[in-house]
Amino acid sequence: DKYDFGMIGLGTMGRNLLLNMADHGVAGAGFDKDATKGAQLEKEGTGKKVKGFSEVEPFVASLNSPKAIMMLVPAGKIVDEVIEELLPFLAKGDILIDGGNSHFTDTNRRVDYLESKGFHFFGMGVSGGEEGARKGPSMMPGGDKEAYNVMKPILESIAAKVDGAPCVTYIGPGASGHFVKMVHNGIEYALMQLIAETYEILRNGLKLSDTEIHGVFEKWNEGRLQSFLIEITRDIFTYKAEGTDHLLVNDIKDEARAKGTGKWTSQEAMNLETPIPSVDSAVSMRDLSKYKSLRTTASQLYGHSDALAVDKDAFLAVLEEAYFFSMIITYSQGMHMLSKASTEYKYELKLNEIAKIWRGGCIIRSTFLEQIYNAYSKDTNLEHLLLDGDVKDLVLGALPGARNVIATAVSAGIAVPAYAASLSYFDNFRTKDMPSNLTQAQRDYFGAHTYALIGKEGVFHTQWMPK
Ligand code: 6PG
Repeated sequence: DKYDFGMIGLGTMGRNLLLNMADHGVAGAGFDKDATKGAQLEKEGTGKKVKGFSEVEPFVASLNSPKAIMMLVPAGKIVDEVIEELLPFLAKGDILIDGGNSHFTDTNRRVDYLESKGFHFFGMGVSGGEEGARKGPSMMPGGDKEAYNVMKPILESIAAKVDGAPCVTYIGPGASGHFVKMVHNGIEYALMQLIAETYEILRNGLKLSDTEIHGVFEKWNEGRLQSFLIEITRDIFTYKAEGTDHLLVNDIKDEARAKGTGKWTSQEAMNLETPIPSVDSAVSMRDLSKYKSLRTTASQLYGHSDALAVDKDAFLAVLEEAYFFSMIITYSQGMHMLSKASTEYKYELKLNEIAKIWRGGCIIRSTFLEQIYNAYSKDTNLEHLLLDGDVKDLVLGALPGARNVIATAVSAGIAVPAYAASLSYFDNFRTKDMPSNLTQAQRDYFGAHTYALIGKEGVFHTQWMPK
């Protein structure tokens, strides 16, 4: 009486994915060195066909062949260790899936290594946190297509559904699945930063109470800003610290941690020479948040921001436009990065399909993704989301609001780096003649780096000043 699927790593994600599978008739075996995790799986899965193991050999032996095993362990060295531990017990044709947030370059290396040994391996981004894993995540599998096709029915059954369509699709060759998940996380960071800046405007600019802040996000979530991140923010502004009458969020230290996927997105965007400044600013501000004592000292030297002298209701209306605008710019940057990577790494990404599987289950799911899906479906070669006609109308509609909010916040000394980065990106994106001609002149002046001339073939160098 064997199991259909094996899971290595019975943390929150691994356990809940197995329980989700069990709900869909997939008998799951779970392995974790920590035996209490296996016990917890069995307890939470009472009445379902799940079993926990803390030894590798019996765990692997309990699976039907060809064996399908997913790893959900912290990214990095641990993944390689798990693979080495597992290999002696696997046979050719068995399928190994890395469902964690592995760096795509690690996945590339593992694809080569495991293929050379005759195993099927694919890297798959899994998004949606605990609830997603349990009730339906969004999944981004890439690599071995044959293996994916074997797993497809199971993955489609456990995925989140939007209008009946499962939020999983084959992404492309190599490490493309993990690459796309990384960019998903970069977008996640930027949207979270935009919401944090919004919160700062609401509490320190408009001096709103927590209840009023809750009301703003509640209203936003009922309109075109509807999204998972706005929805949980709305809820956070109702959650009281246990046994108290004030909100828990007010007790939480203002030092943001990160596991690295947002940073990787920025680093890789620079490698690809594709700008994603909204994401970059989010990564930087998480870093700045960690320097609490420096910030405290500086606040005594320089003082704090001012309240906004504006009509509250009118300003809330333009703030909604500013968020809508910056959210579109953020998604646009992420999609542009994907299209560049697709060319560079020959991933052959279908950007409409990616937008489609992001509509449900994942952290960046939002109503707006439907529009992104439509844009890339209308024109599968669309080079940049901002060039789509429908998106253009939305951007132009929200632009005055964005300018108003950003100018007002900046004048009052309220930091809005992600908002401002989104607007400046847009303003340069729509600029035919950037001031980069001067940069080229300077480079040639001090370093003889040469320049190109308008309407003339070749490269040129000038002796700018007499020696
Ligand atoms: C998801 C998330 C998840 C990520 C967390 C935490 O899609 O479910 O992206 O994979 O690990 O959001 O990320 P940080 O610790 O870096 O904030």
